[in-house]
Amino acid sequence: MTQPTHGGNVYKAAYEQQIPVDRILDFSASINPLGPPAVMRHAIRSAIKQIVHYPDPDCRQLRQALAQRCGVDPSMILVGNGSTELIHLLPRALGIKSALIVGPTFEEYARALQDAGSTVRYVYARREERFRPPVTEVLRALSTKRPRFDAVFVCNPNNPTGQMITRSVMCEIAEVIERRQSWLIVDEAFIDYCQNQSVVSLLSAHPRIVMLRSLTKFYAMPGLRVGYLLGASKVVDQMKERQPPWSVNSLAQAVCCAVLRDRAYEIKSRVFMANERSRFMKELRSLPGVRVYSSVANFVLIELPDRSSAGLVADQLAAEGLLVRDCSTLPGLSARMIRVAVRTVKENRRLTGALGAYVANAAP
Ligand SMILES: Cc1ncc(COP(=O)(O)O)c(C=O)c1O
Repeated sequence: MTQPTHGGNVYKAAYEQQIPVDRILDFSASINPLGPPAVMRHAIRSAIKQIVHYPDPDCRQLRQALAQRCGVDPSMILVGNGSTELIHLLPRALGIKSALIVGPTFEEYARALQDAGSTVRYVYARREERFRPPVTEVLRALSTKRPRFDAVFVCNPNNPTGQMITRSVMCEIAEVIERRQSWLIVDEAFIDYCQNQSVVSLLSAHPRIVMLRSLTKFYAMPGLRVGYLLGASKVVDQMKERQPPWSVNSLAQAVCCAVLRDRAYEIKSRVFMANERSRFMKELRSLPGVRVYSSVANFVLIELPDRSSAGLVADQLAAEGLLVRDCSTLPGLSARMIRVAVRTVKENRRLTGALGAYVANAAP
């Protein structure tokens, strides 16, 4: 399997630029700019003594906390070493031989499917429609006899377009899925910024929905690696059988239990993001020739002016210690697209300044 280019590789950037990692400003991974909740440090300190034991392979306390939060039974939750681990378990655990992916989107679904020998097809949101989710096309693809899809993968809100399928539309898709006896995989890695649209409440009526969630982005701890899956208990059991033992370490389990109790952090993060995203987008839109797509998440997709190259811009910004996600290699996007995370006001201003200088120099 070839390694895809994801955002967030600050180590590679630091090595290439010959600067320390902490001099890199990473806009390429979409991580909560407020940093992890303060309770994280305390949780790590008190969990250190558990390191002499293997971690709880069943993540009992954490599953209990997540179950309470999501309003489901703990038997409907499987915790993983980041949601990436769970994405890779899915195709074999559910016997997915052919899948439909709603693109352009996170590349790991296709990678996991191809690794399991599954056939992958896409329906794409289109630039001309400002990347509106291609719901009609999805429903049409699902209603044809051939090819028949064992599963549909939807990222909601979608990375990198920042667009969202509403819960009522998702319900429509779920009904078709039920009739076809397929699976609807909904990745809610970025749902914390638009919670009331989660499909979690559909789980009890739709046992063929499987949801993925990540704790690494909203709680700003991608280095700790925790994600979880929500689905029917039978699905969870099937997945668990394939998961390596102890894949979620003790510190990660303890930290997640602690941060989930910090409701003030959640509110502060949501309020900050709503305000700063709109300020940042306005600032970016003022750059000549730059198109900024609307987003409900903590990142924005940007189309650079005509004749720009996303790869070149990403390289130039990297030379200034600013990492952005070059989206030109993502199926369904153009050579002029980059994705940037919404960070703090000061950091965002720095990026707008650097991008503005590039745009001004590149103007004919
Ligand atoms: C849409 C989406 N899903 C899942 C993941 C994986 O997250 P993690 O493995 O850190 O939980 C990512 C990471 O960027 C993502 O963008």
